[in-house]
Amino acid sequence: MVSSTPQACNKNLHFVFIPLMAPGHILPMVDMAKLLARRNNVKVSIVTTPLNAPQFKASLDREVHQNSSQIQIVLIKFPNSESRIPQGCESLDTLPSMDLKVNFFLALSLLRKPIEDLIEQNILDPFPSCLIYDKNIPCVSEVATKFNVPRIIFDGTNCFNLLCNHNLYHSKVSENLCDDDYIVVPGLPHRIEMKRSQLPALFNPGTNQHLIDVREKIRENEKGAYGVVVNSFEELESEYVREYQRVTGSKVWCLGPVSLTNKDDVDKAQRGNNKFNHDDEIVNKYVKFLDSWPKGSVIYACLGSLNRVSPKQLIEIGLGLEVTKRPFIWVLRGAYRKDEMEKWLSENGFEERVKDRGILIKGWAPQILILSHSSIGAFLTHCGWNSTLEGICSGVPLITFPMFADQFYNEKLVVQVIEIGVRIGVENAVHFGDEHRFGDGVQVTREKVMDAVEKVMGEGEEEEKRRERAKEYGDLAKKAIEEGGSSYNNLSFLVENIINNHVSKV
Ligand SMILES: *[C@@H]1O[C@H](CO)[C@@H](O)[C@H](O)[C@H]1NC(C)=O
Ligand SMILES: *[C@@H]1O[C@H](CO)[C@@H](O)[C@H](O)[C@H]1NC(C)=O
Ligand SMILES: *[C@@H]1O[C@H](CO)[C@@H](O)[C@H](O)[C@H]1NC(C)=O
Repeated sequence: MVSSTPQACNKNLHFVFIPLMAPGHILPMVDMAKLLARRNNVKVSIVTTPLNAPQFKASLDREVHQNSSQIQIVLIKFPNSESRIPQGCESLDTLPSMDLKVNFFLALSLLRKPIEDLIEQNILDPFPSCLIYDKNIPCVSEVATKFNVPRIIFDGTNCFNLLCNHNLYHSKVSENLCDDDYIVVPGLPHRIEMKRSQLPALFNPGTNQHLIDVREKIRENEKGAYGVVVNSFEELESEYVREYQRVTGSKVWCLGPVSLTNKDDVDKAQRGNNKFNHDDEIVNKYVKFLDSWPKGSVIYACLGSLNRVSPKQLIEIGLGLEVTKRPFIWVLRGAYRKDEMEKWLSENGFEERVKDRGILIKGWAPQILILSHSSIGAFLTHCGWNSTLEGICSGVPLITFPMFADQFYNEKLVVQVIEIGVRIGVENAVHFGDEHRFGDGVQVTREKVMDAVEKVMGEGEEEEKRRERAKEYGDLAKKAIEEGGSSYNNLSFLVENIINNHVSKV
């Protein structure tokens, strides 16, 4: 435990966080940073660029004032001109075109010098005891080597993902297969079968040699790290945590679900919202709506922000929600080909037809606040890990609609390993640049939407059991980060480890 360590030893502990500039990545790392800064005598710095700071500055200020945490933001310049990314754009989700993705990774590699400067010029003071950085910023490993500081990789996913990737990569079973072939991921505690095309980009590299090189660099960078921190918790996937540590020999600390750091409603409501800081009125409208429905009766549907769902598919989801005749909140955010969707909404009369029992949110939604309301009975999600975990914490069953990257793995974890979700029935991944291939096609009809909703919300023993399991996992998640819980303890072990490392060097 931290408290048993002589205070003199960890007086100068300074953890430096370097998150990836993308919303699903920044917020979990900021939460982790806040948790760490609540420990005695630990100072935490979050290194980011000016346009990425506002979304979490207010929440850090509260942390400093209310909890006397030693936590600060340290700014570096985003290398716009060197990477030929337009000024005003400093994050993956604000790139004017995904064609600039290669430039974005170039920009990330250029962060090495400014981070080194922070250390050399003592701006990061005291001297960092540990760098915790997003695995997509591999240049940090060079900084760590130069200054002889331990580096810990933040992986935004979970051990189930890490193990699947590790085993697939080393077994090479996916090589020389066609997109439509199915493979069983080797060496796992469960029988996990995936279509080849559903695997993440590492196994579906496309043809862009720059991106292939970037991914290889990210993979290489995992070697030699002091360990890995994940936003997951032992009780969720203990067999996978253990097995991943065994096959890699790497330390893994499960510190999640970190979003539970935001206990008060201000934080829940403001999370990730930098545009409308004063929309209490709108938030109240959602709460009022939820208050007006019975426990477990409302569907919450949100397919994420970087979504690749075609308008036709979105329309089918909307009509599916309509035929369920159940109340719902449907978030339409950053939808691909938004104009077509707007046109349909204005011409179809959908909103008018559902106005008594449906709310459409076009833009940012206070997701954690909504999910934690007792009238929510199901969460239709794209299975991004951040959202999946928020769903697990809220104790409601999930309806899974994965699209790409790690989302198909997360679907398997939810449906097959912990059995708290129902697949809506997506078969084909829509990889970046591939939108037109399946783009207009509808993979999930309104009937499938309705079937999945009924499977999750309907009466019956199986349905009831699934809801109970979901609730149990929600409780376990909450316990994990409380004092004495597994994630709480893992954080203590992490701090202790770094103290020992620190002391042995002095
Ligand atoms: C997770 O994603 C949801 C929506 O997909 C968003 O509302 C929320 O702020 C995100 N949280 C984190 C931790 O990024
Ligand atoms: C302060 O820390 C406690 C737990 O140590 C937490 O519950 C509370 O939310 C924190 N306050 C703020 C403003 O985050
Ligand atoms: C995290 O906690 C679990 C159980 O509480 C423990 O078995 C595991 O060794 C811890 N992990 C690390 C890396 O210390």
